[in-house]
Amino acid sequence: MEFLVKSTAIGKQQTPCVVVGIHETRRLTPAAQQLDKVSRGYLTTILKRGDIKGKSGETLMLHNVPWTQCERVLLVGCGKKKELDAAAFGKIVAQAATALDKAGVKEAYCYLPELAPDGHDLPWAVRRTVETAADALYRFNQLKTRDKQNARLRRMIFDLDDPDQQRDARRAIREGKAIAKGRALAKDLANLPGNHCTPTHLAEQAKGLAEHHPALTVKVLDEKKMEALNMGALLAVARGSRQPARLIVLEYQGGGKGDKPCVLVGKGITFDSGGISIKPSPAMDEMKYDMCGAASVLGALCAVAEMRLPLNVVGIIPSCENLPDGNAVKPGDIVTSMSGQTIEILNTDAEGRLILCDALTYSEQFDPDTVIDIATLTGACVIALGKHYSGLLGNDEQLIGDILAAGEASGDVAWQLPLGKDYQQQLKSNFADMANIGGREGGTITAACFLSRFTEKLTWAHLDIAGTAWLGGHKKGATGRPVPLLVQYLIDRCNKQERQE
Ligand code: BES
Ligand code: MN
Ligand code: ZN
Repeated sequence: MEFLVKSTAIGKQQTPCVVVGIHETRRLTPAAQQLDKVSRGYLTTILKRGDIKGKSGETLMLHNVPWTQCERVLLVGCGKKKELDAAAFGKIVAQAATALDKAGVKEAYCYLPELAPDGHDLPWAVRRTVETAADALYRFNQLKTRDKQNARLRRMIFDLDDPDQQRDARRAIREGKAIAKGRALAKDLANLPGNHCTPTHLAEQAKGLAEHHPALTVKVLDEKKMEALNMGALLAVARGSRQPARLIVLEYQGGGKGDKPCVLVGKGITFDSGGISIKPSPAMDEMKYDMCGAASVLGALCAVAEMRLPLNVVGIIPSCENLPDGNAVKPGDIVTSMSGQTIEILNTDAEGRLILCDALTYSEQFDPDTVIDIATLTGACVIALGKHYSGLLGNDEQLIGDILAAGEASGDVAWQLPLGKDYQQQLKSNFADMANIGGREGGTITAACFLSRFTEKLTWAHLDIAGTAWLGGHKKGATGRPVPLLVQYLIDRCNKQERQE
């Protein structure tokens, strides 16, 4: 989708549609007021008739509004002005984009950014509009041969006169488009089923990104190289699969050579059957989404490269399938991780932590500033936080605070859970340094406790995205989260650096 800034006169644009907001109850927003003037009170008449009250989520399409040059006017309910916060703003934009698309409108002038909620400015509203409209119109049609129902809305235009505002808006559009692109990439990869999206496919995608962006370089380690590095935990998970495992390393250099990088580590299980500890059949197809952490790392790096952020970022993706087989790892098997610590695998379905622990140890060689791992790690996280907040744990309160703030700012929220010492006992093993499971109680926390044993030298945080990375039911599909959070975190880091200089 295309987003443009122009300076025009409202109502005088020869365009398929103009979009303006209506507050509850029947209150015209500034753009609506102007359009009402141009149309000599037509909007006021419509509002008086009661066709639209202005409730958040309402839309009303008007055709041939008198004295205007546009084909249609879309009125969008924006709710009460004082209740319009960032989340409500996003919902309104999504509803507007959906209504435009449903009507088959190809191009629209959108005045919603003038309604930036308190504490937010125009560039914020433009960026959020771009991100939200693009996301609302996302479709996954790659594998359909008919009934594709592609999005029809192609172009959105923001009408701004002031040159400074125009400049800021164009920058906001660039940012919004970069984030939307990264998010769409994450969704595409996640929605692809396991027979298409293999570890090798993820590696090819990473190579494709690196070809496209000169600041990105990629290295792909095969199983031989992992053996040489003693990645016994990762390789144990990969044993049951015919698909070879991959460790993908993507380096983005936007900062100085000596600048310590932010490292993102993404779980890339391209299908999780549970292995020998096999999962029950219902909804097992959703375990194709067990690579959403990996997808979010690729999506974030894509956005960062598009935006040319001035910092260094490393993406590390351990990737394999978790399947049962005569050669598969078995409950009770004991493996040695790259760190040298031994692990008793009591449940082969707790495989995410096994591939992550070796990837986290591997990350030490980059002398990272911070390390964030992203993983669809535990069903317990879905029970604890539902589908709204990602779980967040880590060993550094400053880093946790920064991630929580980036979540709030981007609307892609996370919630901290305690990484209490007492939980560590649940990982005791009679035969190895630790077990890979800690029992039913506090499952998200014991999983993070496991990872914490491999991050003692690192400033580290863990995002459990089991609840937030995809939706089930009739809305089944990847959400592209937490790409917005990760990109916001990296943007914030750049701004912080700038302030310190
Ligand atoms: N990929 C799953 C986590 C998951 C489950 C995400 C359901 C979303 C929905 C992970 O590999 C897993 O199977 N975890 C186990 C851990 C348990 C065996 C300790 C779980 O959560 O049941
Ligand atoms: Mn599993
Ligand atoms: Zn898994």
